[in-house]
Amino acid sequence: MTLLAFETSCDETSAAVVHDGKILSSAVSSQVKLHAEYGGVVPELAAREHLRNLIPVVQSALNEAGVKTEHLTAVAATQGAGLATALLVGCKAAQAVAFALRIPFIGINHHEAHLYSPWIRGEPLVADFSDFQPNVSLIVSGGHTMLVLVQSELKHRVLGSTIDDAAGECFDKTGKLMGLAYPAGPEIDRLAEQGNAKAFDFPRPLIHDPGDDFSFSGLKTSVRYFIRDNPTLLNDPQKIRDLCASVQRAIVEVLVAKSIHAAKGNGVRCVTASGGVTCNRALRRELARACGQEGFTLRLAEKILCTDNAAMIGILAERKLSANAEPTPLDQEIMPGWVLA
Ligand code: KG4
Ligand code: ZN
Repeated sequence: MTLLAFETSCDETSAAVVHDGKILSSAVSSQVKLHAEYGGVVPELAAREHLRNLIPVVQSALNEAGVKTEHLTAVAATQGAGLATALLVGCKAAQAVAFALRIPFIGINHHEAHLYSPWIRGEPLVADFSDFQPNVSLIVSGGHTMLVLVQSELKHRVLGSTIDDAAGECFDKTGKLMGLAYPAGPEIDRLAEQGNAKAFDFPRPLIHDPGDDFSFSGLKTSVRYFIRDNPTLLNDPQKIRDLCASVQRAIVEVLVAKSIHAAKGNGVRCVTASGGVTCNRALRRELARACGQEGFTLRLAEKILCTDNAAMIGILAERKLSANAEPTPLDQEIMPGWVLA
């Protein structure tokens, strides 16, 4: 199967060509700079930017793969969840391609694609499920934070998710309070490397709660009050590094503890992680340490596949079609609120 995939659910315009589990090309055009000025993603601007970028991105994915449209056997796109105006661009474009080429189209759930992205590895990137194990999967980004039990390929159940802010949002909003540019996650990661994570104490919300839900808004508020009560702290670069390290430690401890707790509670011995925040070095280190201590296998998505991309959409679409999933009708609407079951 040679499949062209589109991803436009948020602020990344992406297209990829996948052939029998191998990623032949993956083109991503990020809109981060455009939205930075506003301190967050502006849906209307995201949609316009997708419209501008989609065709060049698709062209570059096809060129890099050395694939002509007449060689395509299927096309896929993120159908949900995501920003409605943004989803419309990629999903409707993919349905139009399927119509014109008379090939099947399949609409993919964005979160479900994240679930399987840690199994795409190597150089070139290939989906390898030969050592697949039932796992607890942490999906952690600017828009979502959830734990999912993946019992077998294409079979999963959501265990819990955030009841307020996502972990990435917590990085971005606390960073903004420190005066860092949007998105602050990568900058906090960088500054925290030279900071003392024990310098300041912040809450670890729900860390001992027996459930699998997360909550990060209390941590954000606590950082806000801390900065309000210690305004001169932001004049000292080392104190900012310490603050970054302390906030990062609080977020990472919660993510790691709850992932391990969910794996133990569900009797699985493998943890996987994906989504933009999985680029965070402290999170990668601490998950590795905790899984090592428990004797669990850890599969982290490759950094290039952590942030939103069409390659993971293509891999899941190909596996679904290979497992005889029904193609999605070409007039089917986007599903902005498509929750993973
Ligand atoms: O998956 P993603 O590209 O988009 C969605 O939100 O769906 O994730 C972006 C999020 C942002 O909140 C960003 O600050 C965070 O991932 N992020 C990081 C790092 N790299 C990206 N957070 C902490 N450390 C990082 N290295
Ligand atoms: Zn995502």
